[in-house]
Amino acid sequence: MATLIDVPAGLEGVVAAETAVGDVRGAEGFYHYRGHAAPDLAERLSFEAVWHLVHHGRLPDARELDAFRRDTAALRTLPPAVLEALPAIARSGPPMAALRTAVSLAGQTAPSWLDCDTDDRATQALRLVALTPVAAAAIWRTSAGQPPLAPDPALGFAADYLRMASGRMPSTEAARAVEQYLILTVDHGFNASTFTARVVASTGADLTAAAVAGLAALSGPLHGGAPSRVVDMLRDIGTVERARPWVETRLAAGHRIMGFGHRVYRTEDPRSVVLKATARRLGGPMVDLAIAVEGLVLDLLDTKYPERRLRTNVEFYAGVVLDQAGLPPALFPPTFGVSRMAGWMAHVLEQAAHNRLIRPASRYVGPAVAPRVDVEPAAVP
Ligand code: ACO
Repeated sequence: MATLIDVPAGLEGVVAAETAVGDVRGAEGFYHYRGHAAPDLAERLSFEAVWHLVHHGRLPDARELDAFRRDTAALRTLPPAVLEALPAIARSGPPMAALRTAVSLAGQTAPSWLDCDTDDRATQALRLVALTPVAAAAIWRTSAGQPPLAPDPALGFAADYLRMASGRMPSTEAARAVEQYLILTVDHGFNASTFTARVVASTGADLTAAAVAGLAALSGPLHGGAPSRVVDMLRDIGTVERARPWVETRLAAGHRIMGFGHRVYRTEDPRSVVLKATARRLGGPMVDLAIAVEGLVLDLLDTKYPERRLRTNVEFYAGVVLDQAGLPPALFPPTFGVSRMAGWMAHVLEQAAHNRLIRPASRYVGPAVAPRVDVEPAAVP
């Protein structure tokens, strides 16, 4: 029996695995994918190039990128069973819950990764990433009473997602804004959903099971469910003048302000820096309001928690950017799932390559073991 080691609540600071997918340096406000600074990748490259990086472990050259684009665009399809079930799936709950169901159905026949060779696993991983945006967009269109749009393999991953979700060909600017968001959110250390996906993969469950588990963990408002709440908050605040009383009332009541604070960063979240610039480029009244509200919230949080250095996180400007690009708030969590699927799959393949069942312990704090109690008369033989 291994010695029990107590770790901080929420496993803060606990190293639970080794990974070569990426790293977050919270004190420096820096993160990277396989050694490449992620904000820099988001400034310069396409989603497909970054997906190739996390999947294959290196950036592609021009010829490899072309082939990767072509091969993965061909995987952007939904099985007939999912298309048939779309009306029921779309009715089953909010788009994030429906996406979980659609991805589960799409991968229904996948065997345990223990029974697949490395190439099969890699293809399943690519397919799950490729079909997630198609499923998210189809769910949204169906729930809005419109027929889903077929994928267009001639378009890039991000532009095609935005087209299928919004129902119209996006501007280059809007498609690029969404692409930058997708690149920035591919991976981020051992966050709750990545950890969850790896735990599920560590049992030998199929890749779809790990993908669905990742989506489930991401759906919570403390993780990936925050950006739509940021837009709700900004809409509720409405004007700069109303911001101070709104935020003060919430803080006094002990509520958390969405889009602020982070488990790892003590600096501004580097994803927020890029997304703020993207939001500025897109412009619009919500951007001006967001910048004003951000300044105010930071001041108030600094006063309330001077030691903790709560700063803007990725979700604050993510909501603003996705909104300005034409995505409905209900699709913000699924959109996070679309990009993070590439990160989860890289982690799951890594877990499969060096697997050991993840099985921690808990410390029992309930009542002492009781003497035997008979609650029923002894059974008559
Ligand atoms: N608004 C108000 N108070 C906050 C906030 C916030 N956004 N964030 C933290 N606090 C408070 C906590 O309530 C806690 O107060 P207490 O000691 O009186 O209980 C104190 O600050 C310290 O909290 P932390 O230890 O920094 O928080 P933790 O690391 O447990 O949680 C989390 C991090 C979940 C992101 C938290 O900051 C939060 O709830 N933020 C709002 C939701 C959000 O934006 N989520 C998206 C995160 S980014 C991502 O997952 C992609």
